[in-house]
Amino acid sequence: MNQTDQFHAWTLVAQQRTEQALAQHLPDASEDSSSLHAAMRYASLGGGKRLRALLAYAAAEFVEASVERADRVAAAVECMHAYSLIHDDLPCMDDDDLRRGKPSCHKQFDEATALLAGDALQTLAFEMLSAPDWHTQTQQQLSMLHLLAIASGAQGMAGGQAIDLANVGKTMTQDELERMHRMKTGALIEAATLLGAYCADHLDKEKQQALQRYAHQIGLAFQVVDDILDTVADTATLGKTAGKDIEQNKPTYVSLMGLTQAQVFAKQLIEDACSAITPYGQQSNRLIQIAHFIAQRAY
Ligand code: IPE
Ligand code: IPE
Ligand code: MG
Ligand code: MG
Ligand code: MG
Repeated sequence: MNQTDQFHAWTLVAQQRTEQALAQHLPDASEDSSSLHAAMRYASLGGGKRLRALLAYAAAEFVEASVERADRVAAAVECMHAYSLIHDDLPCMDDDDLRRGKPSCHKQFDEATALLAGDALQTLAFEMLSAPDWHTQTQQQLSMLHLLAIASGAQGMAGGQAIDLANVGKTMTQDELERMHRMKTGALIEAATLLGAYCADHLDKEKQQALQRYAHQIGLAFQVVDDILDTVADTATLGKTAGKDIEQNKPTYVSLMGLTQAQVFAKQLIEDACSAITPYGQQSNRLIQIAHFIAQRAY
């Protein structure tokens, strides 16, 4: 198998493991008289690239941690991400009817159910990571909870989303835009990667710092590419409404610097990310493949 096929095979296995771990931890829809459980399953199962899960698995491999521990982290970060997507699509936010090629959660169910499904997916992520039976290092586990809380709260995803909404129709400087993108999207991507590393019983400080710089840069790159795809890809390929950012007057890297410059910038970020981990040779292969996937993805 060549490198590309081998990476593809690895992603398929990791995606299947994520799906299985999610299905196992999500509440059973048949036990619920409301639609809450069904909405949680609808929004988190059977779709998405599972990038945050892939990063958790790859980072766990990078530090030689067990894949079973990474399963739990992968599922938890995907729950958190699914929650962010449900809320992002609500009429009071981006008002998007399509997500992962299906009606968005509030379209399939209703707004109140979607809101609550998001809430419950967020707490499920913490429930999974705080369970007493899966990590032998309590300190490491506590660090995980702290990291995920900061990445998804007012200093991370939720804070970035608030800045996003407050800037509709406005012009942002490059520094402001970078801060917003790092918060709303980069923070959770960075957390997913570091959580994967925290699956190890002991973490080498230098390796952790290298991983952090890698994750910091791919996190921003990911949202720059999302901005690009919004303008160049079509709705069918994206599985979400194309052209949304222009339609809603959102400041993006494309509106700030134009398409070509945004592409150059994304490439620079990816290169910088990779240079942080290349000193680790073979061990960094998977993470480097993921970084290139982020730059080259079609959706
Ligand atoms: C979309 O994330 C929202 C952003 C943070 C840009 P993804 O592009 O990772 O969405 P899925 O999980 O693959 O659907
Ligand atoms: C969303 O950014 C970031 C989140 C925290 C969900 P976007 O609003 O650009 O994401 P899409 O394009 O709807 O997936
Ligand atoms: Mg948004
Ligand atoms: Mg959106
Ligand atoms: Mg977008």
